[in-house]
Amino acid sequence: MHTPSSPLRIAVLISGGGSNLQALIDACEAGIIPGRIVLVISNHPTAFGIERAKRHQIATHVVDHRLYPNRESFDQELIRLLDQYETQLVCLAGFMRVLSDHFTHHYANRLINIHPALLPAFPGLHVQQRAIEAGVRFSGATVHFVVPEVDAGPIIVQAVVPVLADDNAETLAARILRQEHRLYPLAVRWFAEGRLQIVGNQVRLLNAQEDEQAALIHPLSA
Ligand code: GAR
Repeated sequence: MHTPSSPLRIAVLISGGGSNLQALIDACEAGIIPGRIVLVISNHPTAFGIERAKRHQIATHVVDHRLYPNRESFDQELIRLLDQYETQLVCLAGFMRVLSDHFTHHYANRLINIHPALLPAFPGLHVQQRAIEAGVRFSGATVHFVVPEVDAGPIIVQAVVPVLADDNAETLAARILRQEHRLYPLAVRWFAEGRLQIVGNQVRLLNAQEDEQAALIHPLSA
């Protein structure tokens, strides 16, 4: 559990557009998250998220996975950079690479991910299309601590959205993404406040106010 003293040093790993990164940047700048983003790493040189970070004077690095002979050497370079910036929390935000066990152990309990489905349902890729094909009436988003098993790990918070009869993968993804932008800053704020306690596979929110209890269960009133 993080014990807050000075503002939390956050790094964000991205692969693409970075709208979740933007939500985290905005929440830090607004003082909602008692922390600051010290580093953004993308594995794609053209990821638009890099541009977003630069606009806010945040340090950026591209670590192109195609230039590394294997997963371990790629991850080792990530670790080198993250440690160099004295990162206290690593946020995966649309980072589309599977991380090695070495990496997840190195950042155990200070590595979180956002996933566009209600885990443990629909881990992996193409989750919106799979949710539609499965005929589920609800899907959503999950923020969770990262463990070696992909899209597993203790769940911090979830948001539920309806799956509508005329949805396609894009319309459902957009509805989920709007909730992601509310959810991720909330989870990072709780971490930065030192209020997330992992007990087994569960996460407890310490000193939860009534409205936060509600947010844990059903954070979509918007
Ligand atoms: C988000 O929907 C995020 O949940 C998803 O990629 C999108 C990134 O959007 N992540 C995964 O699917 C990870 N398995 P963004 O780049 O605009 O934040």
